Amino acid sequence: MAVLRKDRNTVIGILGGGQLARMSAMQAIQLGFDVAILEKEKKSPAGILTKKEFIGWVDQKKIFDEFIEASDIITLENEFIDYKYLEYIENKGKKVIPDSKTISLIQDKFIQKTTFQNSGIPVPKFLNVNETTTYEFIKSELGSKFVLKSKKMGYDGYGNATVKNKSEFTEALQRLSERHTEIYAEKFVPFVKELAIMVVRTKKEIKTYPIVETIQKNHICHTVIAPARVNEKIIRSVNEIAVEAVRSINGFGIFGIEFFLLEDDSVLVNEIAPRPHNTGHYTIEACTISQFENHIRAVLDLPLGNTELVQPYAVMINLLGKRNGVGVVQNYSEALKSNNVHLHIYGKAESRIGRKMGHITIIGSDLNKILLQAKKIEKQIII
Ligand SMILES: Nc1ncnc2c1ncn2[C@@H]1O[C@H](COP(=O)(O)OP(=O)(O)OP(=O)(O)O)[C@@H](O)[C@H]1O
Ligand SMILES: [Mg+2]
Repeated sequence: MAVLRKDRNTVIGILGGGQLARMSAMQAIQLGFDVAILEKEKKSPAGILTKKEFIGWVDQKKIFDEFIEASDIITLENEFIDYKYLEYIENKGKKVIPDSKTISLIQDKFIQKTTFQNSGIPVPKFLNVNETTTYEFIKSELGSKFVLKSKKMGYDGYGNATVKNKSEFTEALQRLSERHTEIYAEKFVPFVKELAIMVVRTKKEIKTYPIVETIQKNHICHTVIAPARVNEKIIRSVNEIAVEAVRSINGFGIFGIEFFLLEDDSVLVNEIAPRPHNTGHYTIEACTISQFENHIRAVLDLPLGNTELVQPYAVMINLLGKRNGVGVVQNYSEALKSNNVHLHIYGKAESRIGRKMGHITIIGSDLNKILLQAKKIEKQIII
């Protein structure tokens, strides 16, 4: 079934209207496609880019049906929509990329880890936690330091808790159980670095982007350095494992895969995201073809573009809300004074402390220089 229309612009429907949908939509528009956005609130970062803005959600049948009807093919910007809603779209004869089956293997992190483990992909040791699981049992299996994680709906570290003793266990279990019903435990990994890689796949091609180093603050991705400063052996194994991970879930479209690098140069997969990823934002300016454009191409099964860096190094820093108020940069002139900074502001109506409001990317040949520069600018920008 060919998706590309010849009689009018092809419409790509995106489930969600946040910054990932916005940056994907901008690339879709550049290529001459139209986008339809489904989001709960009006004037979302992506919704404002199109007249095909549908306000509501997948559990509101009428608006969901209208959105499906308006779209030729559908993709998503997060893995939280129950895969049954994606099956509903597929049952109406429309494709979802990545499809419901792939999402069903990802959206529950316990199923995700089990799937990877069964495919021989290295993951931290983990086990299921239910009402009868004792602290002593987990400790005997995973060691005295472990992480409790909600199986579903975790992002930016919400839904995770590191545990070092019994009282922390009791407290964390109670706190997580208030918001999340199902929980599992994972061995605490004493990583030396966190790495990530984007993989994009169509029926005919599979390509990887450079491996990056990611630095999280308070569990939120803060800085990304491309390419990662790691040896050839690590580069080879991350690439191989990442491609294998995408194949193991029969994934098509773009995927972000997070890794832990251990002291002995071995790596473990932390998690996979079936969509453009924060750690791939640098690709907009730093690679020949960005993660967003290649995602759109993959959704339509078009030839993929080159994923190589156009400069030796890139640094991306997230701009988190520094105050509660309107989501507009308060000091544009100051922010734009450096003439090599790429500033991205997501157009969110409201800023909140810690909310992802935008990012900056700097590319260049002297990593230390651009890293210092990026940090300085991050401090200056008020949003
Ligand atoms: N098993 C672990 N051992 C050590 N640190 C961990 C472990 N699991 C998670 N972390 C730390 O917490 C961060 C967030 O964890 P994870 O990726 O599981 O959560 P998330 O809520 O999906 O976050 P995000 O949306 O930022 O990717 C990781 O990047 C890592 O720094
Ligand atoms: Mg993560």
